[in-house]
Amino acid sequence: MKKNILVLHGPNLQLLGQREVDVYGRLTLKEINQALAAEAKKLKVGVDFFQSNHEGEILDRIGTASKAYQAIVINPAAYTHTSVALRDALLGCSLPCIEVHLSNIYKREDFRRQSLTAAACAGIVSGFGVQSYLLGLRAAAELI
Ligand code: DQA
Repeated sequence: MKKNILVLHGPNLQLLGQREVDVYGRLTLKEINQALAAEAKKLKVGVDFFQSNHEGEILDRIGTASKAYQAIVINPAAYTHTSVALRDALLGCSLPCIEVHLSNIYKREDFRRQSLTAAACAGIVSGFGVQSYLLGLRAAAELI
């Protein structure tokens, strides 16, 4: 059976390509998803994408993910630093989760240096731009 991975993008990531390009780069979310789809093809796994600016929508997706997916790659964006609910959802979903960030969150403002979600994940990739996502996808494919 083909393995499927769910890639979740948190708030404001729909603005990639125009948002703080010196920090997040010039690739749009669509281009990142295209790169992930190409990598998924090489890895022979299925991949679906979901972006939301609404915490509850992301929680709902995580809550039902185990019906169709074997792993989650998530860039929780600002919710990384604020959301106990997201941490609980990741802990409760019974799937391996990989946290990814375009920027190196440990090199930035103090409030970004804490990830509430990382401890709910198998691992974290941070600081490599689009490569963070691709490495995260590879890690997820290895884990399942
Ligand atoms: C981010 C880092 C977060 O601190 C920030 O709120 C984001 C993007 C990243 O991918 O580097 O929106 O998750």
